[in-house]
Amino acid sequence: MADQLLHLTGIYKSFAGVRALRGVDLSIESGRIHCLVGENGCGKSTLIKIIAGVYPRDAGEMFINGKEFADINPIDAIREGIQVIYQDFSLFPNLTVAENIALNEELAEGRRLVNWRQVRRVAKDALAQIEVDIPLNARVEEMSVANKQLIAIAKALRLNAQLIIMDEPTSALTEREVRALFTVIHKLQERRDIAFLFVSHKLNEVLEISETIIVMRNGKIVSTGDRKEYDNTRLIFEMTGHDITEKSYAFTPDMSLPPLLKVENLSTTDLLQDINFELREGEIVGVTGLLGSGRTELALALYGTLSLSAGRIYIDDKLVQINSIQDAIANGIGYVPEDRLSEGLFLEQSISRNLVVRIIDRLRGAFGLTDPQKVREQAHHLVNALSIKTSDPELPVKTLSGGNQQRVVLAKWLASTPRVMILNGPTVGVDVGSKEELHEMMKQLASEGMGLLVISDDIPELLQTCNRILLMRHGRIIEEILPSETNENELSAKLIEE
Ligand SMILES: Nc1ncnc2c1ncn2[C@@H]1O[C@H](COP(=O)(O)OP(=O)(O)OP(=O)(O)O)[C@@H](O)[C@H]1O
Ligand SMILES: [Mg+2]
Repeated sequence: MADQLLHLTGIYKSFAGVRALRGVDLSIESGRIHCLVGENGCGKSTLIKIIAGVYPRDAGEMFINGKEFADINPIDAIREGIQVIYQDFSLFPNLTVAENIALNEELAEGRRLVNWRQVRRVAKDALAQIEVDIPLNARVEEMSVANKQLIAIAKALRLNAQLIIMDEPTSALTEREVRALFTVIHKLQERRDIAFLFVSHKLNEVLEISETIIVMRNGKIVSTGDRKEYDNTRLIFEMTGHDITEKSYAFTPDMSLPPLLKVENLSTTDLLQDINFELREGEIVGVTGLLGSGRTELALALYGTLSLSAGRIYIDDKLVQINSIQDAIANGIGYVPEDRLSEGLFLEQSISRNLVVRIIDRLRGAFGLTDPQKVREQAHHLVNALSIKTSDPELPVKTLSGGNQQRVVLAKWLASTPRVMILNGPTVGVDVGSKEELHEMMKQLASEGMGLLVISDDIPELLQTCNRILLMRHGRIIEEILPSETNENELSAKLIEE
Protein backbone atom coordinates (compact mmCIF):
# COMPACT_ATOMS: atom_id res chain seq x y z
CA MET A 1 0.00 0.00 0.00
CA ALA A 2 1.25 3.42 -0.94
CA ASP A 3 0.36 5.15 2.29
CA GLN A 4 1.93 2.48 4.48
CA LEU A 5 4.52 4.16 6.62
CA LEU A 6 5.63 1.21 8.66
CA HIS A 7 5.15 -2.47 8.09
CA LEU A 8 6.26 -5.31 10.33
CA THR A 9 5.86 -9.02 9.76
CA GLY A 10 6.57 -12.01 11.94
CA ILE A 11 8.34 -10.12 14.73
CA TYR A 12 9.63 -12.33 17.56
CA LYS A 13 11.37 -11.27 20.74
CA SER A 14 12.29 -13.17 23.89
CA PHE A 15 14.00 -12.11 27.10
CA ALA A 16 15.78 -14.85 28.99
CA GLY A 17 13.03 -17.39 28.42
CA VAL A 18 10.10 -14.91 28.41
CA ARG A 19 8.52 -14.85 24.98
CA ALA A 20 7.41 -11.23 24.80
CA LEU A 21 6.52 -11.10 21.08
CA ARG A 22 5.37 -14.15 19.14
CA GLY A 23 4.97 -13.23 15.51
CA VAL A 24 3.66 -9.68 15.35
CA ASP A 25 2.35 -8.32 12.04
CA LEU A 26 1.68 -4.60 12.16
CA SER A 27 0.99 -1.82 9.69
CA ILE A 28 1.00 1.88 10.41
CA GLU A 29 -0.54 4.17 7.82
CA SER A 30 0.77 7.67 7.38
CA GLY A 31 -1.28 10.49 8.81
CA ARG A 32 -3.52 8.27 10.92
CA ILE A 33 -3.95 7.96 14.67
CA HIS A 34 -3.43 4.37 15.82
CA CYS A 35 -4.00 3.09 19.34
CA LEU A 36 -2.29 -0.02 20.62
CA VAL A 37 -4.11 -1.65 23.49
CA GLY A 38 -3.64 -4.84 25.46
CA GLU A 39 -3.29 -6.20 28.94
CA ASN A 40 -0.24 -5.58 31.11
CA GLY A 41 2.71 -7.61 29.93
CA CYS A 42 1.25 -8.45 26.50
CA GLY A 43 4.27 -6.88 24.77
CA LYS A 44 3.30 -3.31 23.79
CA SER A 45 6.38 -1.55 25.14
CA THR A 46 8.64 -4.26 23.74
CA LEU A 47 7.10 -3.80 20.30
CA ILE A 48 7.65 -0.04 20.48
CA LYS A 49 11.26 -0.48 21.47
CA ILE A 50 11.83 -2.77 18.54
CA ILE A 51 10.31 -0.23 16.15
CA ALA A 52 12.51 2.48 17.68
CA GLY A 53 15.64 0.38 17.30
CA VAL A 54 16.20 0.16 21.05
CA TYR A 55 15.95 -3.64 21.15
CA PRO A 56 17.09 -5.92 18.34
CA ARG A 57 14.42 -8.35 17.16
CA ASP A 58 14.98 -12.11 17.20
CA ALA A 59 13.14 -12.62 13.91
CA GLY A 60 10.87 -10.82 11.50
CA GLU A 61 10.94 -8.13 8.83
CA MET A 62 10.58 -4.40 9.08
CA PHE A 63 9.84 -1.88 6.31
CA ILE A 64 9.72 1.90 6.60
CA ASN A 65 8.20 3.67 3.61
CA GLY A 66 8.66 0.45 1.67
CA LYS A 67 12.36 0.20 2.41
CA GLU A 68 13.50 -2.90 4.27
CA PHE A 69 15.61 -2.57 7.40
CA ALA A 70 17.44 -5.80 8.22
CA ASP A 71 18.32 -4.26 11.53
CA ILE A 72 17.70 -0.80 12.84
CA ASN A 73 19.32 1.32 15.53
CA PRO A 74 17.80 4.34 17.30
CA ILE A 75 19.61 6.80 15.03
CA ASP A 76 18.32 5.10 11.87
CA ALA A 77 14.82 5.15 13.32
CA ILE A 78 14.97 8.88 14.02
CA ARG A 79 16.40 9.53 10.57
CA GLU A 80 13.46 7.65 9.08
CA GLY A 81 11.07 9.92 10.97
CA ILE A 82 10.18 7.65 13.87
CA GLN A 83 10.03 9.52 17.15
CA VAL A 84 9.21 7.85 20.42
CA ILE A 85 8.20 10.05 23.30
CA TYR A 86 9.21 8.10 26.38
CA GLN A 87 8.01 8.68 29.89
CA ASP A 88 11.16 10.63 30.73
CA PHE A 89 10.68 12.61 27.49
CA SER A 90 14.46 12.57 26.84
CA LEU A 91 14.65 16.32 27.44
CA PHE A 92 17.47 18.19 29.11
CA PRO A 93 16.03 19.50 32.37
CA ASN A 94 18.48 22.32 32.89
CA LEU A 95 18.20 23.76 29.40
CA THR A 96 15.42 26.11 28.39
CA VAL A 97 12.33 25.18 26.44
CA ALA A 98 13.74 26.81 23.31
CA GLU A 99 17.06 25.03 23.64
CA ASN A 100 15.39 21.66 24.04
CA ILE A 101 13.25 22.10 20.96
CA ALA A 102 15.79 23.64 18.63
CA LEU A 103 19.31 22.99 19.78
CA ASN A 104 19.60 19.58 18.11
CA GLU A 105 19.22 21.14 14.74
CA GLU A 106 21.82 23.77 15.36
CA LEU A 107 24.25 21.12 16.43
CA ALA A 108 23.36 18.85 13.55
CA GLU A 109 24.07 21.63 11.12
CA GLY A 110 27.58 21.56 12.47
CA ARG A 111 27.76 25.20 13.45
CA ARG A 112 30.34 25.96 16.02
CA LEU A 113 28.64 29.06 17.29
CA VAL A 114 25.04 28.66 18.26
CA ASN A 115 22.78 31.24 16.73
CA TRP A 116 20.50 31.97 19.67
CA ARG A 117 18.12 34.10 17.72
CA GLN A 118 17.68 31.20 15.32
CA VAL A 119 17.13 28.78 18.23
CA ARG A 120 14.35 30.93 19.62
CA ARG A 121 12.77 31.43 16.22
CA VAL A 122 12.77 27.72 15.42
CA ALA A 123 11.38 26.81 18.86
CA LYS A 124 8.70 29.47 18.64
CA ASP A 125 7.70 28.21 15.23
CA ALA A 126 7.50 24.61 16.47
CA LEU A 127 5.28 25.57 19.41
CA ALA A 128 3.14 27.68 17.10
CA GLN A 129 2.58 24.63 14.89
CA ILE A 130 0.86 22.90 17.79
CA GLU A 131 -0.68 26.17 18.99
CA VAL A 132 0.56 25.99 22.53
CA ASP A 133 1.95 28.78 24.56
CA ILE A 134 4.93 27.81 26.68
CA PRO A 135 7.54 30.36 27.76
CA LEU A 136 10.63 29.79 25.62
CA ASN A 137 13.10 30.90 28.25
CA ALA A 138 11.76 28.78 31.10
CA ARG A 139 13.88 25.82 32.11
CA VAL A 140 12.35 22.47 31.26
CA GLU A 141 12.80 21.17 34.80
CA GLU A 142 10.28 23.77 35.95
CA MET A 143 7.64 22.50 33.54
CA SER A 144 4.69 20.25 34.37
CA VAL A 145 4.61 16.73 32.95
CA ALA A 146 1.98 17.88 30.46
CA ASN A 147 4.14 20.72 29.20
CA LYS A 148 7.19 18.47 28.94
CA GLN A 149 5.15 16.21 26.74
CA LEU A 150 4.14 19.07 24.49
CA ILE A 151 7.75 20.23 24.30
CA ALA A 152 8.75 16.69 23.31
CA ILE A 153 6.12 16.75 20.55
CA ALA A 154 7.33 20.13 19.31
CA LYS A 155 10.86 18.77 19.26
CA ALA A 156 9.72 15.68 17.35
CA LEU A 157 8.11 17.94 14.74
CA ARG A 158 11.37 19.79 14.27
CA LEU A 159 13.06 16.46 13.64
CA ASN A 160 10.64 15.76 10.80
CA ALA A 161 8.71 13.07 12.56
CA GLN A 162 6.45 11.00 10.35
CA LEU A 163 5.40 8.71 13.17
CA ILE A 164 5.13 9.83 16.79
CA ILE A 165 4.89 6.98 19.26
CA MET A 166 3.69 7.62 22.79
CA ASP A 167 3.66 4.91 25.47
CA GLU A 168 0.92 5.68 27.99
CA PRO A 169 1.14 9.44 27.48
CA THR A 170 -1.92 10.25 29.54
CA SER A 171 -1.19 8.23 32.65
CA ALA A 172 0.49 11.15 34.41
CA LEU A 173 -1.89 13.81 33.12
CA THR A 174 -4.99 15.33 34.65
CA GLU A 175 -8.25 15.28 32.76
CA ARG A 176 -7.73 18.83 31.56
CA GLU A 177 -4.18 18.15 30.40
CA VAL A 178 -5.44 15.11 28.47
CA ARG A 179 -7.87 17.46 26.70
CA ALA A 180 -4.99 19.80 25.81
CA LEU A 181 -2.90 16.91 24.47
CA PHE A 182 -5.78 15.62 22.37
CA THR A 183 -6.36 19.08 20.93
CA VAL A 184 -2.74 19.17 19.80
CA ILE A 185 -3.02 15.72 18.27
CA HIS A 186 -6.18 16.63 16.40
CA LYS A 187 -4.45 19.74 15.12
CA LEU A 188 -1.59 17.64 13.73
CA GLN A 189 -4.01 15.07 12.39
CA GLU A 190 -5.54 17.69 10.11
CA ARG A 191 -2.21 17.97 8.32
CA ARG A 192 -2.37 14.28 7.45
CA ASP A 193 1.40 13.94 7.32
CA ILE A 194 2.06 12.64 10.82
CA ALA A 195 0.95 9.28 12.09
CA PHE A 196 0.52 8.50 15.78
CA LEU A 197 0.84 5.27 17.69
CA PHE A 198 -0.49 5.52 21.19
CA VAL A 199 -0.52 3.09 24.03
CA SER A 200 -3.20 3.67 26.62
CA HIS A 201 -5.10 1.65 29.18
CA LYS A 202 -7.96 4.14 29.34
CA LEU A 203 -10.45 2.68 26.91
CA ASN A 204 -12.62 5.77 26.76
CA GLU A 205 -9.57 7.71 25.57
CA VAL A 206 -8.70 5.03 23.05
CA LEU A 207 -12.20 5.12 21.63
CA GLU A 208 -12.15 8.89 21.53
CA ILE A 209 -8.83 9.57 19.84
CA SER A 210 -8.04 6.64 17.57
CA GLU A 211 -8.82 6.07 13.93
CA THR A 212 -7.28 2.61 13.85
CA ILE A 213 -7.30 0.24 16.81
CA ILE A 214 -4.72 -2.50 17.27
CA VAL A 215 -5.26 -5.04 20.02
CA MET A 216 -2.47 -7.21 21.39
CA ARG A 217 -2.81 -10.27 23.56
CA ASN A 218 0.01 -12.48 24.73
CA GLY A 219 2.67 -11.22 22.33
CA LYS A 220 0.46 -11.22 19.24
CA ILE A 221 -1.89 -8.89 17.47
CA VAL A 222 -5.32 -10.42 17.79
CA SER A 223 -7.50 -7.76 16.26
CA THR A 224 -7.05 -4.63 14.21
CA GLY A 225 -9.46 -2.38 12.40
CA ASP A 226 -11.22 0.91 12.04
CA ARG A 227 -12.32 2.66 15.23
CA LYS A 228 -15.93 2.38 14.06
CA GLU A 229 -15.81 -1.39 14.44
CA TYR A 230 -15.15 -1.21 18.20
CA ASP A 231 -16.95 -0.29 21.36
CA ASN A 232 -16.00 -0.74 24.99
CA THR A 233 -17.35 -4.28 25.24
CA ARG A 234 -15.63 -5.49 22.11
CA LEU A 235 -12.33 -3.90 23.12
CA ILE A 236 -12.40 -5.61 26.50
CA PHE A 237 -13.30 -8.88 24.89
CA GLU A 238 -10.46 -8.70 22.37
CA MET A 239 -7.95 -7.72 25.04
CA THR A 240 -8.86 -10.29 27.65
CA GLY A 241 -10.59 -13.00 25.69
CA HIS A 242 -13.66 -12.69 27.94
CA ASP A 243 -16.30 -10.17 29.06
CA ILE A 244 -16.00 -8.14 32.22
CA THR A 245 -18.92 -6.94 34.26
CA GLU A 246 -17.86 -5.34 37.47
CA LYS A 247 -20.38 -4.82 40.23
CA SER A 248 -20.44 -1.64 42.28
CA TYR A 249 -19.53 -1.65 45.97
CA ALA A 250 -22.75 -1.22 47.88
CA PHE A 251 -21.81 -1.04 51.54
CA THR A 252 -23.47 0.53 54.53
CA PRO A 253 -21.13 1.01 57.47
CA ASP A 254 -22.10 0.11 61.03
CA MET A 255 -22.68 3.55 62.53
CA SER A 256 -22.76 2.19 66.10
CA LEU A 257 -18.99 1.65 65.94
CA PRO A 258 -16.59 4.58 66.26
CA PRO A 259 -15.14 5.70 62.94
CA LEU A 260 -11.85 4.10 62.04
CA LEU A 261 -10.49 7.48 60.93
CA LYS A 262 -11.96 10.88 61.68
CA VAL A 263 -10.53 14.12 60.33
CA GLU A 264 -11.65 17.41 61.84
CA ASN A 265 -10.98 20.94 60.55
CA LEU A 266 -7.76 19.88 58.91
CA SER A 267 -5.82 22.65 57.17
CA THR A 268 -2.32 23.19 55.84
CA THR A 269 -0.70 26.58 55.32
CA ASP A 270 -0.76 26.59 51.57
CA LEU A 271 -3.67 24.49 50.30
CA LEU A 272 -5.97 22.40 52.45
CA GLN A 273 -8.75 24.22 54.19
CA ASP A 274 -11.04 22.90 56.85
CA ILE A 275 -11.25 19.28 55.77
CA ASN A 276 -13.77 17.15 57.65
CA PHE A 277 -14.69 13.54 56.98
CA GLU A 278 -14.92 10.08 58.48
CA LEU A 279 -13.83 6.71 57.19
CA ARG A 280 -15.45 3.64 58.73
CA GLU A 281 -14.43 0.01 58.79
CA GLY A 282 -15.32 -1.64 55.53
CA GLU A 283 -15.70 1.62 53.66
CA ILE A 284 -14.05 2.57 50.40
CA VAL A 285 -14.18 6.33 50.16
CA GLY A 286 -13.09 8.02 46.96
CA VAL A 287 -11.31 11.35 46.92
CA THR A 288 -11.41 13.09 43.57
CA GLY A 289 -10.62 16.47 42.10
CA LEU A 290 -8.31 18.07 39.58
CA LEU A 291 -4.59 18.33 40.05
CA GLY A 292 -4.09 21.11 42.57
CA SER A 293 -7.44 20.43 44.24
CA GLY A 294 -5.59 19.08 47.25
CA ARG A 295 -6.36 15.37 46.80
CA THR A 296 -2.72 14.28 47.05
CA GLU A 297 -1.93 16.83 49.77
CA LEU A 298 -4.74 15.34 51.85
CA ALA A 299 -3.11 11.93 51.56
CA LEU A 300 0.30 13.33 52.44
CA ALA A 301 -1.12 15.15 55.47
CA LEU A 302 -2.67 11.92 56.75
CA TYR A 303 0.56 10.10 56.09
CA GLY A 304 2.65 12.54 58.10
CA THR A 305 4.65 14.05 55.27
CA LEU A 306 2.85 17.39 55.11
CA SER A 307 2.46 19.32 58.34
CA LEU A 308 -0.88 20.63 59.48
CA SER A 309 -1.54 24.23 60.36
CA ALA A 310 -4.76 23.22 62.09
CA GLY A 311 -7.00 20.25 62.69
CA ARG A 312 -7.27 16.93 64.48
CA ILE A 313 -7.00 13.32 63.38
CA TYR A 314 -8.70 10.53 65.35
CA ILE A 315 -8.24 6.79 65.05
CA ASP A 316 -11.03 4.82 66.75
CA ASP A 317 -12.18 8.09 68.35
CA LYS A 318 -8.76 8.56 69.92
CA LEU A 319 -6.88 11.76 69.11
CA VAL A 320 -3.56 10.96 67.44
CA GLN A 321 -0.56 13.02 66.38
CA ILE A 322 0.76 12.22 62.93
CA ASN A 323 3.90 14.20 62.35
CA SER A 324 5.94 11.64 60.45
CA ILE A 325 5.60 8.55 58.32
CA GLN A 326 6.56 6.51 61.41
CA ASP A 327 3.59 8.02 63.30
CA ALA A 328 1.30 7.17 60.40
CA ILE A 329 2.49 3.57 60.23
CA ALA A 330 2.32 3.19 64.02
CA ASN A 331 -1.32 4.30 63.80
CA GLY A 332 -2.08 1.74 61.12
CA ILE A 333 -2.11 4.08 58.13
CA GLY A 334 -0.53 2.91 54.87
CA TYR A 335 -0.02 4.93 51.70
CA VAL A 336 0.56 3.73 48.17
CA PRO A 337 1.88 6.71 46.21
CA GLU A 338 0.84 7.87 42.81
CA ASP A 339 4.15 7.58 41.05
CA ARG A 340 4.85 3.88 41.14
CA LEU A 341 8.17 4.11 39.39
CA SER A 342 10.02 6.77 41.30
CA GLU A 343 8.42 6.54 44.71
CA GLY A 344 7.20 3.02 45.03
CA LEU A 345 9.96 0.60 44.13
CA PHE A 346 13.65 -0.18 44.07
CA LEU A 347 13.77 -1.04 40.39
CA GLU A 348 17.18 -2.68 40.37
CA GLN A 349 16.34 -4.96 43.29
CA SER A 350 14.50 -8.25 43.11
CA ILE A 351 10.75 -8.59 43.10
CA SER A 352 10.84 -10.55 46.35
CA ARG A 353 13.08 -8.01 48.08
CA ASN A 354 10.67 -5.24 47.11
CA LEU A 355 7.70 -7.26 48.29
CA VAL A 356 8.99 -7.83 51.81
CA VAL A 357 10.78 -4.54 52.37
CA ARG A 358 8.14 -3.22 54.76
CA ILE A 359 7.88 -6.38 56.85
CA ILE A 360 11.49 -7.42 56.94
CA ASP A 361 11.49 -7.29 60.76
CA ARG A 362 8.92 -10.07 60.83
CA LEU A 363 11.06 -12.33 58.66
CA ARG A 364 14.03 -12.74 60.93
CA GLY A 365 15.31 -16.11 62.06
CA ALA A 366 18.19 -17.12 64.31
CA PHE A 367 20.52 -14.31 65.52
CA GLY A 368 18.08 -11.71 64.20
CA LEU A 369 19.17 -12.30 60.62
CA THR A 370 16.70 -12.22 57.77
CA ASP A 371 15.61 -15.79 57.11
CA PRO A 372 15.82 -16.35 53.33
CA GLN A 373 13.33 -19.20 53.55
CA LYS A 374 10.74 -16.93 55.22
CA VAL A 375 11.39 -14.22 52.63
CA ARG A 376 10.88 -16.72 49.82
CA GLU A 377 7.65 -18.02 51.33
CA GLN A 378 6.21 -14.58 51.91
CA ALA A 379 7.22 -13.38 48.43
CA HIS A 380 5.74 -16.49 46.87
CA HIS A 381 2.50 -15.94 48.77
CA LEU A 382 2.24 -12.31 47.63
CA VAL A 383 3.13 -13.11 44.00
CA ASN A 384 0.28 -15.61 43.98
CA ALA A 385 -2.18 -13.47 45.91
CA LEU A 386 -1.78 -10.57 43.49
CA SER A 387 -1.19 -12.70 40.36
CA ILE A 388 2.10 -10.94 39.63
CA LYS A 389 3.26 -12.26 36.27
CA THR A 390 6.87 -13.31 36.60
CA SER A 391 8.89 -16.40 35.85
CA ASP A 392 11.06 -15.87 38.92
CA PRO A 393 10.57 -13.53 41.94
CA GLU A 394 14.34 -13.20 42.20
CA LEU A 395 14.49 -11.15 38.97
CA PRO A 396 14.78 -7.37 39.30
CA VAL A 397 11.49 -5.48 39.48
CA LYS A 398 12.40 -3.54 36.34
CA THR A 399 11.88 -6.69 34.27
CA LEU A 400 8.15 -6.60 35.07
CA SER A 401 5.65 -4.85 32.84
CA GLY A 402 4.23 -1.58 34.16
CA GLY A 403 1.01 -3.06 35.47
CA ASN A 404 2.82 -5.83 37.26
CA GLN A 405 5.13 -3.32 38.91
CA GLN A 406 2.00 -1.61 40.21
CA ARG A 407 0.90 -4.87 41.79
CA VAL A 408 4.23 -5.18 43.56
CA VAL A 409 3.74 -1.73 45.12
CA LEU A 410 0.30 -2.70 46.29
CA ALA A 411 1.40 -6.09 47.58
CA LYS A 412 4.25 -4.57 49.52
CA TRP A 413 1.79 -2.41 51.42
CA LEU A 414 -0.81 -5.08 51.90
CA ALA A 415 1.83 -7.29 53.49
CA SER A 416 2.07 -4.82 56.34
CA THR A 417 -1.71 -5.07 56.94
CA PRO A 418 -2.59 -1.43 57.62
CA ARG A 419 -6.07 -0.59 58.97
CA VAL A 420 -6.42 2.52 56.86
CA MET A 421 -5.02 2.24 53.38
CA ILE A 422 -4.65 5.32 51.22
CA LEU A 423 -4.30 4.45 47.54
CA ASN A 424 -3.31 7.23 45.18
CA GLY A 425 -4.24 6.37 41.60
CA PRO A 426 -4.26 2.63 42.37
CA THR A 427 -4.80 1.48 38.80
CA VAL A 428 -3.08 4.14 36.72
CA GLY A 429 -1.46 2.29 33.83
CA VAL A 430 -3.19 -0.99 34.65
CA ASP A 431 -5.13 -2.88 31.98
CA VAL A 432 -8.86 -3.58 32.28
CA GLY A 433 -8.50 -7.21 33.30
CA SER A 434 -5.96 -6.45 36.02
CA LYS A 435 -7.94 -3.42 37.02
CA GLU A 436 -10.96 -5.55 37.73
CA GLU A 437 -8.80 -7.90 39.79
CA LEU A 438 -7.32 -5.01 41.76
CA HIS A 439 -10.79 -3.58 42.34
CA GLU A 440 -12.00 -6.95 43.57
CA MET A 441 -9.02 -7.06 45.88
CA MET A 442 -9.80 -3.61 47.26
CA LYS A 443 -13.39 -4.65 47.93
CA GLN A 444 -12.20 -7.85 49.57
CA LEU A 445 -9.84 -5.93 51.88
CA ALA A 446 -12.58 -3.50 52.80
CA SER A 447 -15.04 -6.28 53.52
CA GLU A 448 -12.47 -7.77 55.91
CA GLY A 449 -12.53 -4.50 57.88
CA MET A 450 -9.93 -2.26 56.34
CA GLY A 451 -10.87 1.32 55.50
CA LEU A 452 -9.72 2.47 52.07
CA LEU A 453 -9.26 6.00 50.87
CA VAL A 454 -8.96 5.93 47.09
CA ILE A 455 -7.60 9.01 45.35
CA SER A 456 -8.49 8.83 41.70
CA ASP A 457 -9.79 10.76 38.74
CA ASP A 458 -10.79 7.60 36.93
CA ILE A 459 -14.55 8.07 36.98
CA PRO A 460 -15.62 4.47 36.26
CA GLU A 461 -13.18 3.32 38.92
CA LEU A 462 -14.67 5.65 41.53
CA LEU A 463 -18.20 4.59 40.68
CA GLN A 464 -17.36 0.89 40.76
CA THR A 465 -15.29 0.74 43.92
CA CYS A 466 -16.41 3.47 46.31
CA ASN A 467 -19.42 3.61 48.57
CA ARG A 468 -18.94 7.38 48.88
CA ILE A 469 -16.95 9.94 46.88
CA LEU A 470 -15.56 13.21 48.22
CA LEU A 471 -15.11 15.90 45.60
CA MET A 472 -12.31 18.39 46.25
CA ARG A 473 -11.69 21.79 44.76
CA HIS A 474 -9.14 24.44 45.73
CA GLY A 475 -8.16 22.59 48.89
CA ARG A 476 -11.67 21.99 50.20
CA ILE A 477 -14.12 19.13 50.13
CA ILE A 478 -17.03 20.70 48.32
CA GLU A 479 -19.40 17.77 47.96
CA GLU A 480 -20.03 14.21 49.04
CA ILE A 481 -21.43 12.09 46.24
CA LEU A 482 -23.07 8.67 46.38
CA PRO A 483 -22.29 6.51 43.34
CA SER A 484 -25.88 5.29 43.28
CA GLU A 485 -27.08 8.86 42.83
CA THR A 486 -24.85 9.92 39.95
CA ASN A 487 -23.43 8.65 36.66
CA GLU A 488 -20.25 8.90 34.61
CA ASN A 489 -21.23 12.00 32.66
CA GLU A 490 -22.44 13.92 35.66
CA LEU A 491 -19.39 13.07 37.72
CA SER A 492 -16.91 13.99 34.98
CA ALA A 493 -18.69 17.28 34.44
CA LYS A 494 -18.42 18.02 38.16
CA LEU A 495 -14.78 17.05 38.16
CA ILE A 496 -13.68 19.56 35.53
CA GLU A 497 -15.99 22.40 36.63
CA GLU A 498 -14.13 25.38 38.02
N1 LIG B 1 14.19 -6.23 29.81
C1 LIG B 1 13.39 -7.28 30.07
N2 LIG B 1 13.87 -8.40 30.64
C2 LIG B 1 13.07 -9.46 30.88
N3 LIG B 1 11.76 -9.51 30.60
C3 LIG B 1 11.21 -8.42 30.02
C4 LIG B 1 11.99 -7.24 29.74
N4 LIG B 1 11.17 -6.32 29.16
C5 LIG B 1 9.95 -6.89 29.10
N5 LIG B 1 9.97 -8.15 29.61
C6 LIG B 1 8.82 -9.08 29.67
O1 LIG B 1 8.20 -9.10 28.40
C7 LIG B 1 6.79 -9.12 28.51
C8 LIG B 1 6.19 -7.94 27.78
O2 LIG B 1 6.50 -6.75 28.48
P1 LIG B 1 6.10 -5.30 27.99
O3 LIG B 1 6.79 -4.34 28.88
O4 LIG B 1 6.33 -5.19 26.53
O5 LIG B 1 4.54 -5.29 28.28
P2 LIG B 1 3.45 -4.13 28.08
O6 LIG B 1 2.43 -4.63 27.14
O7 LIG B 1 4.14 -2.86 27.74
O8 LIG B 1 2.79 -4.06 29.53
P3 LIG B 1 2.25 -2.80 30.41
O9 LIG B 1 0.88 -2.49 29.91
O10 LIG B 1 2.16 -3.36 31.79
O11 LIG B 1 3.24 -1.68 30.27
C9 LIG B 1 6.50 -9.14 30.01
O12 LIG B 1 6.29 -10.47 30.39
C10 LIG B 1 7.76 -8.59 30.63
O13 LIG B 1 7.93 -9.09 31.94
MG1 LIG C 1 4.39 -1.02 28.77
